[in-house]
Amino acid sequence: MDQLVIKGPTKLNGQVKISGSKNAALPIIAASILLNGKTTIKNIPEIKDVISLIKIVEDLGAKCSFKNNIFKIDTSKLKNKNPDPELIKHLRASILLIAPLLVKNGEVRIPHPGGCLIGARPIDVHLEAFKRMGAKIKNGGKDYYLKADKLSGVNVTTDFFSVTGTENVIIAAVLSKGQTKISLAAAEPHVQDLCNFLNKAGAKIKGIGTHNIIIDGVNKLSGIEYEIIPDQIESGTFAIAAAATKGRVEIDGFVKAHHESLLSKFDRANIKYEFLSDHKIKILPTNHIKAIRIRTEVYPGFPTDLQAPIAVLATQASGTSEIYETIFEGRLGYINELSKMGANCVVRDAHQASITGSTPLYGTRITSFDLRAGATLVIAAIIATGESRLDQIEIIDRGYERIEEKLKKLGANIRRVSLKEVE
Ligand code: EPU
Repeated sequence: MDQLVIKGPTKLNGQVKISGSKNAALPIIAASILLNGKTTIKNIPEIKDVISLIKIVEDLGAKCSFKNNIFKIDTSKLKNKNPDPELIKHLRASILLIAPLLVKNGEVRIPHPGGCLIGARPIDVHLEAFKRMGAKIKNGGKDYYLKADKLSGVNVTTDFFSVTGTENVIIAAVLSKGQTKISLAAAEPHVQDLCNFLNKAGAKIKGIGTHNIIIDGVNKLSGIEYEIIPDQIESGTFAIAAAATKGRVEIDGFVKAHHESLLSKFDRANIKYEFLSDHKIKILPTNHIKAIRIRTEVYPGFPTDLQAPIAVLATQASGTSEIYETIFEGRLGYINELSKMGANCVVRDAHQASITGSTPLYGTRITSFDLRAGATLVIAAIIATGESRLDQIEIIDRGYERIEEKLKKLGANIRRVSLKEVE
């Protein structure tokens, strides 16, 4: 177990390069199981979730290599039909293996996936869609068994927008018989990237980036070379960190088109920035940050994954900011940690909180409860006066590539220590 020790306050300054998108890399690696021949995917972030998924795919018999953010896979000789239950226990994205394995082998057995504890996270939307496409499903309590000789294209109207639910249906539909139409499809940049990857491999997906996706089944997909997009949430996290510390930071990999909702919040909060290109932003120091209202929504609305990070900005804003987390019921746990640091917060219920600022923050011992909460507390600790010690940082390693190295380059006083060293 490691701990991050951060001494503040620091204004971040300099340049940072954003890594490849975690939530694009995961479905794309899963979908690569369906491509014939060899596939090379560039810009894959070296983070725990990706490494865990690669281990699972290797255990299935795929020949993989992963060096310098380039992932190569050859799935011509898979030996196992089912993923190892031990390996998939901790990874929510392992759910994305259902579609490729069901299509490739005609059956799959998989336990309920693990992942960050941010809400109940059922998988009924995924199962309902597979059922409509012709799969027989048994839920044996501990695991799910799905069987289908060949899936058929159908109209799938999900109960609500689900990111991995949409991705699973897309992966299942590309090699199915006939046409699949998904209404209420998720449209996040990473969902779009999965579609672009599959189309390059020979799939026929239309409506990419909209909530109505149409997929015409094809007979085969071929191995390709592909480069995934920069991480929307990592770039947003760094932009918020720069703004909250009143620093001056150039962020390479901040895609303007992915961030309309964050930029509109920045405008309201009086955060100054300029674009150096469509993929590069410079955050400028702002002395008077204004309170904001955040309501998380599906894309292009404000992302739930940036709800916690932007709360740190709220602690530095004048007035009362309101936060309404509409998607998950367990994503406000970090607020208690911010309060310990001196923030003036009120949690109304599992979905709503308010933060009144601006208040100085002070270093103390705090804990990361989930990936984005962990990144949030890192930003808070950089603003805080004195030393903060952040526990459970393995959770942050699941989704942020070399976070302390990047922050150190921007001037943060941050180091990783093993708990043995501490006690
Ligand atoms: N839901 C159901 N039934 C389902 C599926 C979802 O009730 O079958 C509910 C969930 O409980 C939640 C809502 O629907 O309340 C939306 O969940 P969604 O399915 O969209 O989430 P996900 O696909 O499990 C992905 C990301 C999350 C991100 C959410 C929302 C990946 C691997 N994970 O999760 O990322 O928060 O979409 O955008 O793509 C993160 O990166 O930190 C992270 C948690």
